[in-house]
Amino acid sequence: MRNAECKCKVGPRHDPPLKFRTPHSALRILVIPFSPMTYQTLLFELRDGIALITINRPDKLNALNDQVVEDLAEAAERVAAEDEIKGVILTGAGQKAFVAGADIADLAQQGPFDGKARALRGQAMLRRFETCGKPVVAAINGYALGGGCELAMACHLRIASETARFGQPEVKLGIAPGYGGTQRLPRLVGKGQALYLILTGEMIDAQEARRIGLVNKVVPAAELLATAERTLRGILAMGPLAVRLALEAVDQGLEMTLDEGLLLEANHFGLLAATRDMKEGLTAFLDKRAPRFEGR
Ligand code: COA
Repeated sequence: MRNAECKCKVGPRHDPPLKFRTPHSALRILVIPFSPMTYQTLLFELRDGIALITINRPDKLNALNDQVVEDLAEAAERVAAEDEIKGVILTGAGQKAFVAGADIADLAQQGPFDGKARALRGQAMLRRFETCGKPVVAAINGYALGGGCELAMACHLRIASETARFGQPEVKLGIAPGYGGTQRLPRLVGKGQALYLILTGEMIDAQEARRIGLVNKVVPAAELLATAERTLRGILAMGPLAVRLALEAVDQGLEMTLDEGLLLEANHFGLLAATRDMKEGLTAFLDKRAPRFEGR
């Protein structure tokens, strides 16, 4: 990403390109404003098909207050709706935190009904990213605690910096995970590891998170965004319909019996056989050339 030049479509504004200093100090990129939509708590940059979404409350370690959840929900809708957006990288501003959890000051005010409503809003936002049909990569640059770990788990891939720390410390506060932690953590790392983290509230480092399968890859902090981008660009070079249906089959298949999941997979396999992309991918292999996928 370093010194990368933005090739994205210029939006309604016609300002000259901005030299923008990203929250990760090692990365200097050129950004052209794309959309008139702005967010109070997020930075949203679209470059060459990738939306880089940065949660931007570094003074509060990017804690998810109601405004962040609302902004993220809008961003997830936009990702799902806009054809120009092919994939997403989610990260946190600053060197210290990805997201240090739900905003504890907000939680301190809640009663039973608004507590439940808050959990449902957060869950819906995360689910929108998870089912947006495009690959979403979490670039975890520091603490990913509580809602931060839950946000990372709703992403399709997780790449962590060596400095990242993970945990579900809610029980220490007298609450339990509310943004999907009790559901996605056991699905990702198994019931035993999940219960250990949820019941002890213990924090683990990036290597341990990698060992138990909570993250896919651990890289030096300075290489985090570049690795996330390289990984995502690799996925975007594949057949986009195949990627979309693979995401859907894994997401939906986990909630089905094995036989139902296998039938879903076979249906997707058959559907892809009707696409130009499948013909192109197979022909390109046989012709010993790179495929040119069109998403058709
Ligand atoms: N909600 C609201 N504010 C938070 C927060 C959260 N989840 N996590 C950190 N902050 C705020 C702190 O209150 C502090 O604000 P202040 O400077 O106005 O006092 C600021 O972020 C910096 O945090 P601080 O605690 O001073 O940093 P630290 O390096 O000493 O500790 C943590 C870092 C992550 C260990 C610590 O902030 C922490 O335990 N946070 C809460 C984690 C948590 O329980 N998350 C789950 C919530 S359900």
